Amino acid sequence: MGNEKSSGLIQRAWSIGKKIDTTDILYGPDHFEPLKNFGHQAYFSFFAGLANAIQANNIIEIGTWYGSATRAFERGCVKNNNSSNVKIVTIDEEQRNLDELGQYNSVIPITGNPLNPKVISRIASILSQDNVDILYIDDPQHAYKYTLACLGCYFMLFKPKLVIIDDIHRTSDTQEIWCNIKTRWPQQAIELEKIIPAIRPAEYGLGLLDFSQGYSE
Ligand SMILES: C[S@@+](CC[C@H](N)C(=O)[O-])C[C@H]1O[C@@H](n2cnc3c(N)ncnc32)[C@H](O)[C@@H]1O
Repeated sequence: MGNEKSSGLIQRAWSIGKKIDTTDILYGPDHFEPLKNFGHQAYFSFFAGLANAIQANNIIEIGTWYGSATRAFERGCVKNNNSSNVKIVTIDEEQRNLDELGQYNSVIPITGNPLNPKVISRIASILSQDNVDILYIDDPQHAYKYTLACLGCYFMLFKPKLVIIDDIHRTSDTQEIWCNIKTRWPQQAIELEKIIPAIRPAEYGLGLLDFSQGYSE
């Protein structure tokens, strides 16, 4: 699955990510066990490296939680950019860490359901179509209809160059979505943990859809 150019981008992002210090970015608290501390995650380095490698300016994240991935993307974007050009829109039904996220000019937290038309219109007023570099979908519901609806809606409206979906192996629903995606987009769909095993435990999985070379098959 995937292709050589995508593999090259992933390797480059991984090595750039190692040079960007994200060690202060910790995940948490855990959704189910609030006292459990997951600490820094390898994929935060990758996200910073990827944002930096593609010189990303515009990112949409579905599922903010405490904004760990948000901050990882921000770090990679602002490293080689004027931060006033960077917009990271992050959506959650509850914004739990506004004090911290408010310190970043480029981070725009939005409270609401990502499928709510008002939320979508607001994002469309912030980010124009054709300009979205990364769409990151990270939702704990991991429900087939919900995740696929978010993917379909944001994919159609914003045509992101890269789509990242977390936990593609975690539930039967996400496995089925990923299986459908791989069948439809075999050249674009990549299981990142197969290329870089340290990025994410194989039982969780992290999917990348690389449309940076266009949408042709
Ligand atoms: C796994 S967490 C996101 C983790 C985050 N990306 C990070 O790096 O720390 C999933 C988030 O999705 C949010 N969420 C779940 N269902 C939602 C819905 N229907 N609408 C909006 N947000 C939702 C939850 O509130 C939770 O904060």
